[in-house]
Amino acid sequence: MTTRLFLSPTPPRQEREEASKSIATSIKHDAYLPRQVPEDLPAAQADGRRVLVDRFGRIARDLRVSLTDRCNLRCTYCMPAEGLEWLPTEQTLDDAEVLRLIRIAVVKLGIRQIRFTGGEPLLRKNLKDIIAGTATLLTDEGEKVRIALTTNGLGLDKKIAGLKEAGLDRVNISLDTIDAQRYISLTRRDRLFGVLSSIDAAVSAGLHPVKINAVVMPGVNEVDIVPLAEYCLSKGAQLRFIEQMPLGPREQWKRGDMVTAQEILDRLGTQFDLTPAKEPRGAAPAALWNAVDKTNPEIAGKLGIIASVTHPFCGDCDRSRLTTDGTIRNCLFSRTETPLRDAMREGASDDELADLWAGAMWEKKPGHGIDDEGFLQPDRPMSAIGG
Ligand code: 5AD
Ligand code: SF4
Repeated sequence: MTTRLFLSPTPPRQEREEASKSIATSIKHDAYLPRQVPEDLPAAQADGRRVLVDRFGRIARDLRVSLTDRCNLRCTYCMPAEGLEWLPTEQTLDDAEVLRLIRIAVVKLGIRQIRFTGGEPLLRKNLKDIIAGTATLLTDEGEKVRIALTTNGLGLDKKIAGLKEAGLDRVNISLDTIDAQRYISLTRRDRLFGVLSSIDAAVSAGLHPVKINAVVMPGVNEVDIVPLAEYCLSKGAQLRFIEQMPLGPREQWKRGDMVTAQEILDRLGTQFDLTPAKEPRGAAPAALWNAVDKTNPEIAGKLGIIASVTHPFCGDCDRSRLTTDGTIRNCLFSRTETPLRDAMREGASDDELADLWAGAMWEKKPGHGIDDEGFLQPDRPMSAIGG
């Protein structure tokens, strides 16, 4: 019997190819529109507090804050080798501005978890101070806000003790291959061993569970699926395979070619006995599996699969995003953005900024629509949105 990831089967490859053709012809440039506070937004409480609820009743509790659009790798699926222009510094939020918006999110808007992303967030000069400033905030439940970091891992081994002391609770490290040569062709840099020593450092620092993200790309790293799983399980880190989404260079993603969650699971099944993990999934994107190596039962633990494309979890999404230039995005794929930076610099109050933010989230679409006829990729690259 084959292990099935979810109840509905993945469409056959031919159907997926048809779908990808119609997507390819529909992609065109479309400018972002600044947003106003919608008229039907429910009123805030008298003290200005509210939650970030949308028209479909989802409440955002998790804020992803992109701290820079720069990166020290050039992953082929994310950035071109050269020629991507960085945002000029005057357009990006300074530390005080980032911390002010994070405070508004937690104190006025019910955010309970902050995840710092990039680009590469370890390149942000005062990351430790930003984490320390965030760690002083209490959520609406009276607890310390949870703080996580999504990083490519370069340099994390040296910084992790300080970041943990500042209040960092968890890390996600990106690693798409453990083959040194493939790492170089995928990231265009020879830094694999730096990442591996950061994984060791994160596990030793006790930031459990240390999560490893691997994006699976057709003809690129499918052969890494089993070796990555064995490596992460033996290190006590939780590997999650991610279906590639249409966010990078446009020619790099075709619905018909992508490696689906089911295909990832089938490959894992050749080496591991897999049973679905029991814990409820909630708003977490990964479906978790208990894996035991068929040839060495001592290699065992949890593996996750994030089927963002074939089995979207948009109905449970609890995320809001703040880009490094101070705009709110209510979805990775949204075609509209709500800029807060200029309002803030022109003297908007905390309540006015909270209203704009709540209005942006109120308008969140029910889903990413990757499979829809008229799907358009966001104009902003993933490195400037934050993962
Ligand atoms: N599809 C899926 N995941 C992606 N990431 C970057 N680009 C994509 C994409 N197109 C992942 C990175 C990192 C996180 C920030 O998002 O690998 O783990
Ligand atoms: Fe950098 Fe992450 Fe993009 Fe790779 S995927 S280039 S690590 S921002």
